[in-house]
Amino acid sequence: MRIALIGYGKMGKAIESLSAPVHHEISLKVGRSGFTAKDLQQTDVAIEFSTPDAAVNNIYTCFEAGIPVVVGTTAWYHQYDEVVAACKKANGKMLTATNFSIGVNLFWKAAEYLAGLMNERTDYDVSVHEVHHLQKLDAPSGTAITTANKLIEQLNRKNRWVHHEIGNSPSDDPFHLNISSAREEGVPGTHIIEFANDIDSIELKHTAKNRKGFATGALKAAEWLYQQSEPGVYTMDDVLNL
Ligand SMILES: NC(=O)c1ccc[n+]([C@@H]2O[C@H](COP(=O)([O-])OP(=O)(O)OC[C@H]3O[C@@H](n4cnc5c(N)ncnc54)[C@H](OP(=O)(O)O)[C@@H]3O)[C@@H](O)[C@H]2O)c1
Repeated sequence: MRIALIGYGKMGKAIESLSAPVHHEISLKVGRSGFTAKDLQQTDVAIEFSTPDAAVNNIYTCFEAGIPVVVGTTAWYHQYDEVVAACKKANGKMLTATNFSIGVNLFWKAAEYLAGLMNERTDYDVSVHEVHHLQKLDAPSGTAITTANKLIEQLNRKNRWVHHEIGNSPSDDPFHLNISSAREEGVPGTHIIEFANDIDSIELKHTAKNRKGFATGALKAAEWLYQQSEPGVYTMDDVLNL
């Protein structure tokens, strides 16, 4: 499989290092100078890990070239509906995930199950906390937002998430689900869900030990997407059969 790495930073390089041993060829590496649809002529599938500002245009260039695209960049999801419409119009293939790690996708399933049990236990409040490295551009993380949205879907007593930096006060509106963020040197990504009342607390925690999990999942997603004959918008649930 010939892979274009759209964004050749920490994630692009991690995917490159996993590609050679399984005989995938890197057909293109793109940094901030960008690329055109023509540059994708020797590519089977694109993997997009760039920046929040660049991601949507990069996805559109892949649609224009007729190349399936796996999107890992976060913080562009306010434009998700228009990107999905563009994908349908172009008869394109796209797979998005705010987190490609198989562990996080299992963590999300466990979170949905726990939140389902907690829907009747209204004395427990719930919050999400995330920690990432200092270079991360967006806060809260895309993974924290996805986690919060999955919890909100299960909990009648929550209607939206709100974000605060560590040290600032959380919202005291009971309908809000608080997300807190901290930035620390060298942390690839840690997410904690806490349900707490006056008596006890239950925590569900995912800790990424390095970037290998994200890169492995993104490569698996690219292999899977390349094999799909139907155009459409896919997620890791489709890849992992969850
Ligand atoms: N979904 C997941 O599982 C997952 C996991 C980890 C990270 N992420 C997300 O993935 C994104 C990238 O993370 P990272 O850690 O690899 O960041 P990074 O190390 O900062 O790399 C970003 C790369 O994007 C490139 N870039 C800038 N403008 C571009 C453009 N117009 N077109 C193409 N590439 C461009 C940069 O190029 P230059 O080198 O030329 O500046 C750099 O190589 C972030 O949004 C992050 O939150 C997602």
